Amino acid sequence: MDTNNLIISNFDLTPYTTFGIPARARYFAEYKSLRELERLMRTPEFNDNELLQIGAGSNLLFVHDFNGIVLHSAIRGVTFYRKNDDTVYAIAGAGEEMDYLIARSIEEGYSGLENLSHIPGDVGASVVQNVGAYGVEAGDLVHSAECYDLLTHKVVTLRPEDMRFGYRDSMFKNEGKGRYIVLRVSYLLNPTTEARNLDYGPLKSLAERLGHTPAAAEVREEVIAIRKAKLPEPGEISSAGSFFKNPIVNRHYYKEEMLRRDPEIPCYEVDENRVKIPAGWLIEHAGLKGYTIGKAQVYPKQCLVITNTGGATAEDVVRLSEHVRRTVMKKFGVMLHPEVNFIDTDIEVTVLGSGTSKGIPEIGCDCDVCTSEDPHDKRTRSSVLVRTHGMNLLIDASPDFRTQALREDIRDIDAVLITHSHYDHVGGLDDLRPLCAFRKMDIYARPDVLGDLRRRLDYCFKEDPYPGVPGFELHEVGDRPFLLNGLKITPISVSHGKLPIVGYRIGDFAYITDCSHIEFSEMWKLEGIDTLIINALRHRPHFAHFSFEQALDFIKEVNPRQAYLTHICHDTEPASVEDSMLPDNVRLAYDGLKFTVK
Ligand code: EPU
Repeated sequence: MDTNNLIISNFDLTPYTTFGIPARARYFAEYKSLRELERLMRTPEFNDNELLQIGAGSNLLFVHDFNGIVLHSAIRGVTFYRKNDDTVYAIAGAGEEMDYLIARSIEEGYSGLENLSHIPGDVGASVVQNVGAYGVEAGDLVHSAECYDLLTHKVVTLRPEDMRFGYRDSMFKNEGKGRYIVLRVSYLLNPTTEARNLDYGPLKSLAERLGHTPAAAEVREEVIAIRKAKLPEPGEISSAGSFFKNPIVNRHYYKEEMLRRDPEIPCYEVDENRVKIPAGWLIEHAGLKGYTIGKAQVYPKQCLVITNTGGATAEDVVRLSEHVRRTVMKKFGVMLHPEVNFIDTDIEVTVLGSGTSKGIPEIGCDCDVCTSEDPHDKRTRSSVLVRTHGMNLLIDASPDFRTQALREDIRDIDAVLITHSHYDHVGGLDDLRPLCAFRKMDIYARPDVLGDLRRRLDYCFKEDPYPGVPGFELHEVGDRPFLLNGLKITPISVSHGKLPIVGYRIGDFAYITDCSHIEFSEMWKLEGIDTLIINALRHRPHFAHFSFEQALDFIKEVNPRQAYLTHICHDTEPASVEDSMLPDNVRLAYDGLKFTVK
């Protein structure tokens, strides 16, 4: 078969998500079998593009058009297999509807999955998302999943312990992100028609009402009735089900901090130390029932859901979600996190600082640049914020980070990528404290840099640190690309004088600072980039930094669509003069500069 027929370009994804929010994919391909998938894998579209697998699209929000290839499994079929010892397996194709599998299991006389009735979505996604409802999670019943491993190019059978299920979470969303394609899932069912999971509130009374132990079919009926009463009916009102996760917080924090704010906040026990708070309750009691931005609305019957009331844009939903998160945070002191997967291949870059180590103006200097009134001549120490794939990544934490974060209203950082350990690139790490109150901050850097940080910030790494110091989770960066929450980051080794340091490529954007030399062998990592930020100190040569002229030569060689110069000192002309002398596709970066790489 001709694989070209399998791949469609500039594909309209709108009908492929239950949210019904318009978005397009650069490429889209559907496969009905492993053989078709293997054919797809041999195409350049598959190999040269970012990959996204979707099921029924019931849990996705495309924030922008998807710049990659979307794969949709159409591997269908359900087979039942009963062993002599009465163990029952239901094996379903990843592209099969989960609710069809549940209905068929009940028809066959097997119970277990009935509490998950009427959840929109495909079988493949049920393990990725570990879907759950009314006291049962997919992970409780999964026996195994047959997956294609893109790393080893083999079909593997993963067991529950490999899939590491958590609350709406699994290995597929974390360390295995982008690595596996689910082909088939095998569920372990009970060889009986009797329902077994009746602990969840509204199901508890069912036996009493019926006068007998409910059958799986009766639980299914009840669950469908509850869902229809509370949740928007797929096909009638567009939504992605629960928009937020129910936050899990430390019991001490719940008692001391949250109940102080409102003694009525309900909770469910998770374990000895933690409780789960119903986010729907928090949203409702923050006064947001029915709150609307554009055409996106907090669903009045169940505030955990955001609906598209007709013609909503992704921006409406993102703005509403931010509003909900901020309002709930302000009122109850807890940050909600989306359950819906935000898909965003756009790369939005904000230059937080563009100055050299002393910044501009330099203390005590009266030169033309230091006394210039032009805001483009005021430079804090160099750093950028990169927003992509639903994450905020900070490259370097300069001593001016606090000022920069307040200026740009930064409220969330997911990880920090460090280029090297000179003070002007790491001096602001302690100021990340308010952003890592609830979790450790992930820091990525070369091993020698991590060593420097452990020494300099020793108080953060003590066994029993002073309460309130920032917590850091350190990750080593080597020469090879690595995945950060499934996003490929390519470290680029460069020399800063004699010191080996790194720049980073994220998608078609690259950030290199403090470079004086780059080996030819590293240049391939910059192939095909759209936008480059590169350091250029001044016109005069410097032993550890590119001069303007060297940076321009480097830009010519890399040949990006556009480039910005950063890490600039005052020993230059004012920005407006320098800019007028630069090639058309090159400008000086300035503090607050923003651009998007698609
Ligand atoms: N509540 C409110 N106001 C609201 C919504 C909820 O006060 O607007 C309170 C009520 O006190 C209620 C409690 O929150 O008793 C819990 O509500 P509910 O039982 O409806 O469950 P949920 O926590 O809102 C979770 C899942 C649902 C699942 C139900 C039932 C998450 C993120 N959501 O919702 O899953 O169907 O439990 O098990 O865990 C989905 O994932 O898309 C989904 C719908």
